[in-house]
Amino acid sequence: MDFTAFVLSQLPPPPARVLEFGCGPNGGITPALVEAGHDAVGVDPSAPAGARFHAVALEEFDGGPFDAVVGERVLHHVDPLEPALDKLARLAPFLILEEFAWEQMDGPTRDWYEAQHRTLRAAGVEPSGPHDWARWEDEHVHLHPSDRLRRELAVRYDERHFEWRAYLYRWLGGPVTEPLEEALIEVGAIKPLGFRWLGVSR
Ligand SMILES: C[S@@+](CC[C@H](N)C(=O)[O-])C[C@H]1O[C@@H](n2cnc3c(N)ncnc32)[C@H](O)[C@@H]1O
Repeated sequence: MDFTAFVLSQLPPPPARVLEFGCGPNGGITPALVEAGHDAVGVDPSAPAGARFHAVALEEFDGGPFDAVVGERVLHHVDPLEPALDKLARLAPFLILEEFAWEQMDGPTRDWYEAQHRTLRAAGVEPSGPHDWARWEDEHVHLHPSDRLRRELAVRYDERHFEWRAYLYRWLGGPVTEPLEEALIEVGAIKPLGFRWLGVSR
């Protein structure tokens, strides 16, 4: 189930008031939530133009309250983390996240990723992710690791759902990368670098 379908399965019946933080320049899942009948808005400094979007950081956003907040691949970027989580917990009782546990990368997973990257490029597919993991990691040491995210989430929320998930297919973009990554995770050959999380604020 993709993130949009998961979020839709967890929201109250439409029209729920939903905030997507870090929706990105393409608007994230906000248009799909609106299409499903929800009263959704997206917030991101690089949000697209439009009545449903606010081109500001979460810290500057002045709206709410909401029934739920959703964030896809954004929380590990948010700095400082603690006041942002305090604000999210005040804005809505539910928080739904899809995250990148970049620090979970190990040798076999890196070898598989970089080999897939080379193979796809040779086949004419240009992956959106970096070809050299070590260099990417050196340039992104400021990102929050998943144990810190979960520790800070646990201070403010009761966790209701957690699952490790494939992530690298998003960066590789090959036609069968997602089922291949999932199958290799399933047999323990590589590690899951993504997780999905849902919590209820206290
Ligand atoms: C990896 S992108 C993810 C974009 C989109 N959610 C997706 O999955 O394609 C991370 C996004 O988080 C946004 N972001 C980082 N810190 C933020 C903050 N404090 N408030 C709002 N957005 C933030 C960035 O501008 C960027 O668009």
